[in-house]
Amino acid sequence: MQHSFSHPMNHQHIVNVAIFASGTGSNADALIRYSQKKDSSYSVVVIVSNKENAGVRSVSEHFSIPFEHIQQADDGASIIALLQKYNVDIIALGGYMKLLPPELVRAFKGKIINIHPSLLPDYGGKGMYGNHVHMAVWKDKMPYTGLTIHYVDEEYDRGQALIQCRIDIGDCVSPEAIAEKVKEAERMIYPLMLNQLCKIIYSQG
Ligand code: GRF
Repeated sequence: MQHSFSHPMNHQHIVNVAIFASGTGSNADALIRYSQKKDSSYSVVVIVSNKENAGVRSVSEHFSIPFEHIQQADDGASIIALLQKYNVDIIALGGYMKLLPPELVRAFKGKIINIHPSLLPDYGGKGMYGNHVHMAVWKDKMPYTGLTIHYVDEEYDRGQALIQCRIDIGDCVSPEAIAEKVKEAERMIYPLMLNQLCKIIYSQG
């Protein structure tokens, strides 16, 4: 499913990315903003969501990027067909609340990444998402937390890590403050990581 073509602005080769999200879409927003920079190696061609009215929908509208609501999140063949329609090379998950069907994971092996708001394997796995993570970190009185960007396989939060960043939270006075600090780091690091990955994928193919 790999292909390449010239960016109209700077003649760089770019990789087509689909963002899968179910929530507010702050990561989607950051990924799209970065894609519009001159030195970006990727373009966000579609946003896919299992929630028709997720906040990320307004992000897609703001940037005029197609939004696709999938009714059957477990229907791998339909999702693959949808992604082929947009010539998608890479999938970036950002707060996507459904497990990906195994068929899809196999079809995009090594081409699906996710961001998780903790230092996996700590605070990962089933039920550990969004504020549940930050609440657990807060209850444990942790002096630090972090984020992990990892490849996605058929299990929750188990794929190989691409990068992990530790974030000191000694100054955070609530789980909300932890969430905010982690989100800020996510918005900075996720686009840089995706861009690097896309550069590598392009150089291979
Ligand atoms: C982020 O904290 C991300 O780490 C997790 O889900 C959250 C999504 O937030 N996987 P947003 O919808 O991108 O604001």
